[in-house]
Amino acid sequence: MAIAWTTTIISSTIIIMLFSSATTAQTNNDNGGKPKRTHFIVEACKNASINSSEYRHVTKEFCVSTLQQDKRSDEAKDLHDLALIGVDILKGHIIAASGKVKEMMHSAMNGTSTAQRLRLCEMDYDAAVTILKVCNTMLKDYRGPKGGEKVGPPSFYLPDCVDKASGFVNYCEHELVDMPGQEALYKESIELCKLGDLNVALMQPYWDFTQN
Ligand SMILES: *[C@@H]1O[C@H](CO)[C@@H](O)[C@H](O)[C@H]1NC(C)=O
Ligand SMILES: *[C@@H]1O[C@H](CO)[C@@H](O)[C@H](O)[C@H]1NC(C)=O
Ligand SMILES: *[C@@H]1O[C@H](CO)[C@@H](O)[C@H](O)[C@H]1NC(C)=O
Repeated sequence: MAIAWTTTIISSTIIIMLFSSATTAQTNNDNGGKPKRTHFIVEACKNASINSSEYRHVTKEFCVSTLQQDKRSDEAKDLHDLALIGVDILKGHIIAASGKVKEMMHSAMNGTSTAQRLRLCEMDYDAAVTILKVCNTMLKDYRGPKGGEKVGPPSFYLPDCVDKASGFVNYCEHELVDMPGQEALYKESIELCKLGDLNVALMQPYWDFTQN
């Protein structure tokens, strides 16, 4: 009898626990659609991670935390919105890093290899920023693949564009490697390369001529 009682109590407790967690889940989903949007970022980032190359691998976690730096991500309704945010985040970080390179150039002796490499890095960053402005405009002009090519860019231009910008960021990283006294700038360039990889991976679906 006592055992039966205990079993009943435990079963009821489990049922109550199951019920309350179901209720919590329900409440979360109805919360103005917000968790749903977070879910969308996670979905897109999962895809980006799957589609990133082995050599330039992007984790889902890095992708999500990066895109969430911009609060517009919460409002993103499709990959196009997220791609635009990714491009803007990358551009902002490169501009900041470029400012530090410029500062470092003031103290570098003219004619030294340090000055020369910093100058090249500065040019690489400036080129990447210019290209990203083109990518941003292309994304804004994008009208989809079907019949969109007359008024907007073809979809494969979009990942191609961010890939080109990333290429220049990579050049700078190459300039700064093993450069004494420039370890902080080098570390930053590695982070920028990772951000570039993220943008490239996120936009992989645009390579698919039939889908977009
Ligand atoms: C993720 O990829 C799958 C398979 O390609 C696709 O069906 C889905 O729409 C993608 N999700 C997002 C959020 O892009
Ligand atoms: C990966 O990219 C390809 C295009 O290169 C696209 O067709 C595919 O849907 C993408 N996969 C995911 C999971 O997003
Ligand atoms: C390097 O040369 C430029 C002009 O060519 C000059 O403006 C700058 O002050 C010089 N920097 C140093 C550290 O000598």
